Amino acid sequence: MTDTPRSTKSVSKAATELDAIPDPRSEFPRPLRLPLHSDITEELIEQLVRGFYTKVRADPELGPVFAAEIGEDWEPHLGKMFDFWSSVTRMTGRYRGKPNAVHSRLKGVEPEHFLRWLTLFRETARDLCVPEVSAIFIDRAERIGESLQLTMFFDPVNPGRILDLREKAG
Ligand code: HEM
Repeated sequence: MTDTPRSTKSVSKAATELDAIPDPRSEFPRPLRLPLHSDITEELIEQLVRGFYTKVRADPELGPVFAAEIGEDWEPHLGKMFDFWSSVTRMTGRYRGKPNAVHSRLKGVEPEHFLRWLTLFRETARDLCVPEVSAIFIDRAERIGESLQLTMFFDPVNPGRILDLREKAG
């Protein structure tokens, strides 16, 4: 039994047409996906993540929750967070985790922890970035925090349990 040979002409034509369409599954770096701001470098992300988690570790409310999960060796978590923020703000696609699933299995986390998390994150971002850039990080953190909160705590019988994480104007 022999296969009928395919027309190489139509295959190569199809490939040429497809080449013009960016493949959403292709590996980074993707030249068409630019950072949200030219100031957002990998160095800035590392500074922000390290600065933020230094505060988290020392915080009486958040510190114990993280300590219970992470223990002493913070580098693997920090590495994940560099990838996460690089994906969110520089479009590198480096982060491949599932934050909603990870947070859903955490013990002892309450909606109020998200308010504290965001307070420390805003402080750190504003210390390290120009206002236009801190606003980008803060906006993304608030939105992702909302999504995490909904996965973790949404209860149609008690919808008030979900807290508004947006900073009040003024
Ligand atoms: C806007 C809010 C937040 C964002 C954007 C965020 C983001 C993330 C991300 C991306 C991860 C890595 C998940 C993975 O792939 O393993 C993570 C892990 C984790 N988060 Fe959050 N998080 C937020 C709020 C919180 C809060 C409020 C708490 C608890 C008080 C919390 C506790 C943790 C812990 C304990 C881990 C696991 C650490 C590890 O084992 O690496 N997070 N978070």
